[in-house]
This record gives sequence, structure tokens and C-alpha cells, in this order.
Amino acid sequence: MIMFGNLVTTDLSAQERTDNWGVPYVKLNNGVEMPRFGLGTYNVSNDDCKQAVATALKNGYRHFDTAQAYNNERGVGEAIKESGIPREQIWVTSKLWPTEYGEGKTLAAIDRMLERMGLEYLDLLYIHQPIGDYVGAWKDMEKAYEQGKIRALGISNCDAREEAFTTIVETMKIKPAIHQIECHPYAQRRAMRAKHEPYGIVTECWFPLGHGDKNLLSDPTIGKIAQKHGKTIAQIIIRWHIDEGFSVIPGATNPEYIKENISIFDFKLDAEDMATMRSLDQEKRFYNMSIEQLENFVLNRAIDR
Ligand SMILES: NC(=O)c1ccc[n+]([C@@H]2O[C@H](COP(=O)([O-])OP(=O)(O)OC[C@H]3O[C@@H](n4cnc5c(N)ncnc54)[C@H](OP(=O)(O)O)[C@@H]3O)[C@@H](O)[C@H]2O)c1
Repeated sequence: MIMFGNLVTTDLSAQERTDNWGVPYVKLNNGVEMPRFGLGTYNVSNDDCKQAVATALKNGYRHFDTAQAYNNERGVGEAIKESGIPREQIWVTSKLWPTEYGEGKTLAAIDRMLERMGLEYLDLLYIHQPIGDYVGAWKDMEKAYEQGKIRALGISNCDAREEAFTTIVETMKIKPAIHQIECHPYAQRRAMRAKHEPYGIVTECWFPLGHGDKNLLSDPTIGKIAQKHGKTIAQIIIRWHIDEGFSVIPGATNPEYIKENISIFDFKLDAEDMATMRSLDQEKRFYNMSIEQLENFVLNRAIDR
């Protein structure tokens, strides 16, 4: 165990295996192993997504994060199929949109999702937002899990509704293995991470590069660490996520960025680098929607069905 302030984190690196590219695999709280690094696909069209996933697969990525609401699950599925890489070597995550939530309703939505992606099973399925009948959705997700259609269940954005986090972790039969939240050097989310600890929930970070934020990607303090290691600022940020024990899914369509972002497994940040990175925390979020705004947004979003 490593003590950091009032946060206790597990030294994952001691227990993890790595693949040929050096990507570490974490054992989730249900025993399933997941690569702690992958490609995000938010805001990317189906065609661009297919291209990005194909490039990523050629460069060693084996973990892909999509969502029903990104309308690009088909692109992910097609790129995987065309790569010829055995399905069991790839980790595929998607997320259900709240309009699909409800016991008796979600199971059919999961079958449609698998059909869209051309897959027999998903490695991880999230409830995308803690809105509407997420309890009913979770009950059907548990059924899909028991039927072998999903290997792990996750929650996303439950930091926006604490009650959803508590209800799911305390009352549901199958506990979430992962919680996907916004997390990067400017918002390190220590309070939420501490809540994951007792349940062995892995923190997975969205907006790890601040959604491409120019200030974060030219931060002079991170720049000094980058110079020391002969890496870019983006690489230092992603390496920091890995060394903190997170799962991280930077989004990229530019092939150079795709290659750059996985080229981080030939070095580690030292204790001084980590202390410096931790000192940058200012709880600055890049996505600021209230739960009420989110509820409206959810109802009006056009999604792939
Ligand atoms: N659960 C949720 O509600 C939720 C919300 C948001 C995101 N997510 C997931 O988290 C993933 C990551 O978030 P994100 O993609 O929005 O943001 P991000 O990973 O923080 O940043 C992506 C942006 O950074 C740029 N970029 C990537 N690598 C770079 C590099 N090495 N140097 C400079 N710029 C670089 C990309 O450019 P190019 O595109 O031009 O290559 C893109 O504009 C998403 O793709 C999605 O899968 C989940």
C-alpha cells in the first residue's frame, strides 16, 4: 500500500502482468484482467473511428472505449473484425444511454448493441449517466453478465450523483468493477478515488489530456519533467495516469498522436516527478454540466439504436 495524504492506493505495478507493448493489466474485483491503457473515441464519426481503431490496433492498442451515444460503435466493431486479431486479445468497452434503462428493456438494448458492433460479448459495459432508471438497467446488466454477454460492469459519472454511486455499490448483487470519471493533472479527484478503495473499484479517467486543452498540454511544470525524460507533455500526463494506478483512455484520431500516446512504457516517473504532478491538482474540471442540464441533454441526444 502507498499512503498519499488521506488517500491509500494499492501498488498495482507489483501485481500486474504486462503485454508485449508494456501495457499493464489490472485484475478487476471480479477476477477479470483489463489493460489499463486504451483508445477513447468520443466525438469521432464512424468512419474516422474505424480508421483510428485500425491504426491503434497496428500500434499495439488492445483496449477501446466507445459508447452508444458516440454513434461509432459500428466503426469500432468493423476495425476489430478486419484486423484479424483474435477477439479475446482485445478489450472492448461500451456505454448504455439512459433512454435504454429499465428492467426488461436494457437486456434487449444490450443485444442490439452487440449486433451493432458485430460482437458476441462486450468486455465492459457502463451505465453512461446516473440518470433515470439506472437500478433497472443494472438488474438487466447483471442478467447479461450471468449470460456471458458482458465480462465486467461499470459505472460512469456517478460522481455527479452520489446517491447513484451508493445505491449501486451498496445494494446491487454485482458490484461495479470500474468507475469512469473526468480525471487529469488539474482535477485529480482524490475524494472520489478514496470512495472507490473499499470496493476495489478501478478509476478510469476520461479527458486525461483535458480534451486537448492547450494550457494543460503546454504546462511549463510538466514541460520540465518531459524534457528530463525526453518525452512530450502528453506522454508525461498519460504516464502519470498509469503510475497513479488508473486506467486511461486518451482519445486521438491523428495517427502521430496514436503512436505517441502508447510510447510511454519504456520509462517511469520517479517519486519527485510524481510529487510535482500531484502538486498541480486544482480541481479544475473541463466539463461542467449540472445534473439538471445533463437530464435535458440526455433526453435530446440522438443515439444509435
Ligand atoms: N464517460 C463519459 O461520460 C466520458 C466523457 C468524455 C470522454 N469519455 C471517454 O474518454 C476518452 C478520452 O477523452 P477525450 O477523447 O474527450 O479527451 P482527451 O483524451 O483528454 O483528449 C483528446 C484530444 O487530445 C488530442 N490529443 C491526443 N493525443 C495528443 C497528443 N499526444 N498531443 C496533443 N494532443 C493530443 C486529440 O487530438 P486528435 O483527435 O486530433 O487526434 C483530441 O483532440 C474519450 O475519447 C471517451 O472514450 C467518456
